[in-house]
Amino acid sequence: MQISDSSTRILAGLLEARTGQQLTMSRRWRIETALAALLRERGIASLDELITILVMGREPGLSQMVAEALLNNETYFFRDRAPFDMLQRYALPELAQRRAKLKRLRIWSTGCSTGQEPYSLAMLFAEEQEKWQGWTIDILGTDVSSGCIDRARRGIYTQFEIQRGLGINQTIKWFEECADGWRAVEQLRRPVRFQVHNLLEQPPHPGGFDIILCRNVLLYLNPEKKALSFERLASAMAEDGWLMLGAGETVIGQTNKLGSDINARGLYRLIGDGKRVEKRSGPDRRTAAAGA
Ligand SMILES: C[S@@+](CC[C@H](N)C(=O)[O-])C[C@H]1O[C@@H](n2cnc3c(N)ncnc32)[C@H](O)[C@@H]1O
Repeated sequence: MQISDSSTRILAGLLEARTGQQLTMSRRWRIETALAALLRERGIASLDELITILVMGREPGLSQMVAEALLNNETYFFRDRAPFDMLQRYALPELAQRRAKLKRLRIWSTGCSTGQEPYSLAMLFAEEQEKWQGWTIDILGTDVSSGCIDRARRGIYTQFEIQRGLGINQTIKWFEECADGWRAVEQLRRPVRFQVHNLLEQPPHPGGFDIILCRNVLLYLNPEKKALSFERLASAMAEDGWLMLGAGETVIGQTNKLGSDINARGLYRLIGDGKRVEKRSGPDRRTAAAGA
């Protein structure tokens, strides 16, 4: 059954209004598949009937469920690996020094989907527990999808999900087998909290995050919503904090509040003192780096 253009427009409008995400052409082809389970669960016979219910506003909660079903939640443990190595090589050693007295780090994974990203971060710290002894590590995972956050909180992954990004040693060390698959062990769960949150709204701790990961979330936002998201991200960062985006995502041309780190390309800093970030047409980068 072919979904009509007007129905597609209604669904795309609903998704964009709630999350800022645009329904790309490739995802338009999959609308029926994406919504099939929801229709079954709610006993709704067809997409036309669903659209009628939505338009008449008979079931207020249904719009959120439809938006959630249309979101792309693709994720896996240590996605793209290299960015996690960069955090370990650049951001964490610097923060370990700068926060040595406070002994506290706040990390935000926004658009964390079903939690693999926050738990990957927790594993970085758990693997080096002696180094972080006595520190409070606070990892907040947020997503606009309440279904994703429920799953993230459970911390249980299927064999297929576990295999995506984790080797056998890491699996056995940080997960225990349970009836539904593999459950993150207490040590991994302890530093991680989850919360439903829309990136387009005020951040959870303005100015409070030492590291923010916002990966593969901004790709399908329209330019206005993308600009707003960068405002939100910048306002959530500590002055000397770090932002990480997904592979192929950049701040360049999107915001004047953030710049690429001189030493760690792919990590972004607030533009303030002009030392840490790359100046696009400024003085020699080495001079700037030496003063950083
Ligand atoms: C493709 S997944 C990426 C997950 C993870 N960051 C990664 O890179 O593996 C994008 C996630 O962003 C979430 N998302 C989309 N729009 C959002 C918004 N406005 N606020 C918060 N989360 C959002 C989606 O629900 C989805 O779980």
